[in-house]
Amino acid sequence: MSGDSSSLQSSAVIQEAVQSLRNGGLVAFPTETVYGLGADAKNPEAIKKVFSAKGRPSNHPLIVHIAAPDKFDQSHIDWVPVLASWVRDISEDALKLINAFWPGPLTLVFKKDKTVPLEATGGQDTVAIRAPAHPLTQELLRKFKGGIVGPSANRFGKVSPTSAADVRHEFEEMLDLMILDGGDCAVGIESTIVDLSRDCPVLLRPGLITPGEIFKKTGVKVFLPHEYAAIEGQTEAPKVSGSLRAHYAPTTPLRLYAPGRVLDALGEFPDIKSRVAVAVWDSDSSLGGDGHPSVHFEEILVPSDSTSFANKLYRTLRDLDQQGWDLILLPEPPAGEEWDGVRDRLQRACFGSGPSSNSHANN
Ligand code: TXA
Ligand code: MG
Repeated sequence: MSGDSSSLQSSAVIQEAVQSLRNGGLVAFPTETVYGLGADAKNPEAIKKVFSAKGRPSNHPLIVHIAAPDKFDQSHIDWVPVLASWVRDISEDALKLINAFWPGPLTLVFKKDKTVPLEATGGQDTVAIRAPAHPLTQELLRKFKGGIVGPSANRFGKVSPTSAADVRHEFEEMLDLMILDGGDCAVGIESTIVDLSRDCPVLLRPGLITPGEIFKKTGVKVFLPHEYAAIEGQTEAPKVSGSLRAHYAPTTPLRLYAPGRVLDALGEFPDIKSRVAVAVWDSDSSLGGDGHPSVHFEEILVPSDSTSFANKLYRTLRDLDQQGWDLILLPEPPAGEEWDGVRDRLQRACFGSGPSSNSHANN
């Protein structure tokens, strides 16, 4: 999906990456969603290095990335042999989702095969798998002939990287970290996660692929966490690490404003007099009269279409975070499931934003 041929790297570089993975090293790789920080998914020591590089608690499970079968340009692909060494059972629903969306930005959670190290799954009996669509990483996976664990290549709780330069910025002092440059990520937010290890499919993380689209293409109903909790008579919905209230967070304070209510959002920051970046939909011409005499707003246009907004989201947060604003205000995403992925990331980014965002009060 992403990365034109000029940004693809030579097979010598891929070979070096394969060697590094085989030696238990880390390799950052591009995907269509965000960049991942990769290690051999069946090497517990290598997996531990991923957790320590990110500063991620070891009970937060990782996604295993796998190659599509060789004949992946043919209309009928047999994924069962590929999955056999990772998962225990593959339901009819699983095959429908896989055939409709892999390779692509959809992660599926299964009961794990006993050979999958508990280090990769945060000690759980389930494993998250996805086949990313980026051609460079597909080539890496095919040549590696194994699975690669890959959390987003950012420090724990911070904004996910959507370019090779972002990864370098996150891990500046890890000089020996090999980073495969596959250009800018096409989707821009992390994959949709659907849990197939329970009695019915449950959405664990919203993304570009929505339950509505899944239903339309496959007839499979994916339950939202609160719907699932209600059926099961549970009070707690299933959780993933991205479901911490603080995540994807810039260091500059970030807030959302309701349509036409920029000044309300400022109420929380009475001392701010200047340097406020206000994003406005590119479909609205400007903030109009919605100003404030003592505050200098600077307008930034953001796409009013959900797919383009997602594509620019982390890029915008990173760039604004480096420009020294006192406050960043973004418009609240409109209602509708196509905005759920963006809304989810923005709410957590707001909650965790600000200079003390390392504290993660909700861990
Ligand atoms: O788009 C993506 O999914 C990116 C790219 C690199 O593939 N990866 C990514 O990884 O977002 P990470 O580690 O930042 O997020 C993985 C999410 C976490 O929220 C984790 O809790 C959840 O997947 N997860 C992994 N294994 C799981 C499991 N067995 N059960 C439930 N959730 C799981
Ligand atoms: Mg992440």
